[in-house]
Amino acid sequence: MNTDRKIEKAASIIRESKSMVSLTGAGISTAAGIPDFRSPDEGLWQKDPSKMMLFTDVGFMSDPKGFYEFGRELLPRFQDARPTLAHRFLSRLEAEGKLKCVITQNIDGLHQRAGSKNIVELHGGLSTARCTGGACKREFTLEEMVKETEERLPPLCPDCHALIRPNIVLFGEALPEEAYRKALESLGNCDLLLVMGSSLVVYPAADMPGIAQEHGARLIIINLQPTRYDSRADVFIHLPLDVAVEKLAKALEITL
Ligand code: OAD
Repeated sequence: MNTDRKIEKAASIIRESKSMVSLTGAGISTAAGIPDFRSPDEGLWQKDPSKMMLFTDVGFMSDPKGFYEFGRELLPRFQDARPTLAHRFLSRLEAEGKLKCVITQNIDGLHQRAGSKNIVELHGGLSTARCTGGACKREFTLEEMVKETEERLPPLCPDCHALIRPNIVLFGEALPEEAYRKALESLGNCDLLLVMGSSLVVYPAADMPGIAQEHGARLIIINLQPTRYDSRADVFIHLPLDVAVEKLAKALEITL
């Protein structure tokens, strides 16, 4: 099937859907200047696989300074980022009542900034941080955490001097229980799952297309690189998201 035909088919599936859910990954934010993890040249883990170790529970605790040094290089990209066409497309579909939920693996907060309301952050978010001292439990905003990193690396809680960590999920940690529960509930109730910008290799998100399909949902995947679900999708589109979304929005007569 050629690309135009795939866009037409995807648009017609979206038109028919009454309760759509989207699963997004780092590829939805690359056009905003935030690198993903596994793209061939620019992916963070692809360029330097050793950095991935810093984002494990064990790696973070054994080298928090290394984690923050790497994080400090990346932070301006997150702070400067604006929602992409694809983020705006999803928030429009939600405002129209068609899209019920965005399940994201991203920590960048761009869905919120695009105006989406019902968002499940599977891997937490960068906007807040917490003290790791058992009894302290002090919470920090991103700005407060950044201020502490300017004082010292790694940043320590001003109250109890334990390490501060962002409220993101590290490899080896369980997903936030409520987020996972909400994601499964949405997947069980949707008639269409639209996957955007994810390699679908990290679990449990990688199981979600299958879960939605088991509950009878249709599946559309838009991703530059192939994914292991392409052969099971109703439509897969290998285009940059802003190109695909522009075409889809046109077919659906949505102004972004
Ligand atoms: P990946 O980097 O694994 O996959 C991003 C996908 O997006 C790739 O397959 C790219 O081909 C595609 N892509 C990139 N830019 C695109 C564009 N402009 N248009 C269309 N597709 C594009 O990112 P995720 O699947 O989100 O977890 O990774 C999942 C998890 O692995 C992350 O949440 C993170 C990471 O390690 C943790 O840190 C716990």
